[in-house]
Amino acid sequence: MGDLNNIEEVANYIVADGKGILAADESNPTCGKRFDSIGVDSNEESRRDYREMLFRSEGMKGNIGGVILFDETIRQEAEDGTPLINIILDQGALPGIKVDQGLKPIGESGESLTQGLEGLDERLKEYYSLGARFTKWRAVIKVGDLLPTDEAVVSNMNALAEYAKLVQDHNMVPMVEPEVLMDGNHSIDHCFEATARSLDCLFNLLDDKGVNIKGTILKPNMVTSGSEAPIKADIDEVANQTIKCLKMYVPDDLPGVTFLSGGQSDLDSTAHLDAMNKIGGFTWKLSFSYGRALQQAALKAWMGKKENSSLAQKALSHRAHMNRLASDGSWSASLEN
Ligand code: 13P
Repeated sequence: MGDLNNIEEVANYIVADGKGILAADESNPTCGKRFDSIGVDSNEESRRDYREMLFRSEGMKGNIGGVILFDETIRQEAEDGTPLINIILDQGALPGIKVDQGLKPIGESGESLTQGLEGLDERLKEYYSLGARFTKWRAVIKVGDLLPTDEAVVSNMNALAEYAKLVQDHNMVPMVEPEVLMDGNHSIDHCFEATARSLDCLFNLLDDKGVNIKGTILKPNMVTSGSEAPIKADIDEVANQTIKCLKMYVPDDLPGVTFLSGGQSDLDSTAHLDAMNKIGGFTWKLSFSYGRALQQAALKAWMGKKENSSLAQKALSHRAHMNRLASDGSWSASLEN
């Protein structure tokens, strides 16, 4: 991957040539839920085996420019003693690390403020020395009758901006993730409004705190209908509304926008991304940082058994390849068969 001398080069490297990010930073409880769905016990070894299998997939190369890890994983070795980080680097991807520490409720309406600023300076120092070159912080914005409140938006975007500044002081690229949740029966217009308020506030605060936008990656939600909405916006509307919203608030010199999948199906996540890149007309790379939408098929194929590894790796490789094509608008549904 040559010499990457500064955060701007790192950010550009991660999203070069349509590459995206594999989000494999599920906390242990979340990983437990995923493993429950396939009847596998979640422990240090099974989590290591699963992630080692993913990181050794052939389709990582050329399609994945970064992998987000959880604290446990960045310290783990493969079965043969190779640090998992080295496997990722050999695939041409950079290791990243989730640094937020979960959600604290605000008020009674189910909103939350992401925690993790305390002690962050020390943790960042260690993560850099362990090999991390980028980081992730997820803020969660809930949509509802009178939601999101200004308090939830401002306090979460402020924490994101403080985190981003600190990460850049440690020579790593911050991914800023203001996730407007799909949960609920809200319309696409309501999602647009919540996303617009969040992005507007976030980029103002990043600017206020002197964060270098050229060394930052945005990980947003797409603008969609709520998952329980009676009428669902179609692919073209999601693509148009998402681009419209991003163009209003995202500075031109941001290197990459890498979407979360947020509970969308594998195919929807790819089709939406492809539709946006077919429309074009923006300066940033528009790519993916999917967790579930990259891993679901691989997890189902794996089922905790070593003998299923190659099938599972094929499933991950396929999704990574399809999403890379979508990142330059050259995917089509016919390629899925
Ligand atoms: P999903 O793509 O499964 O939403 O996960 C991405 C992620 O990293 C959420 O923080």
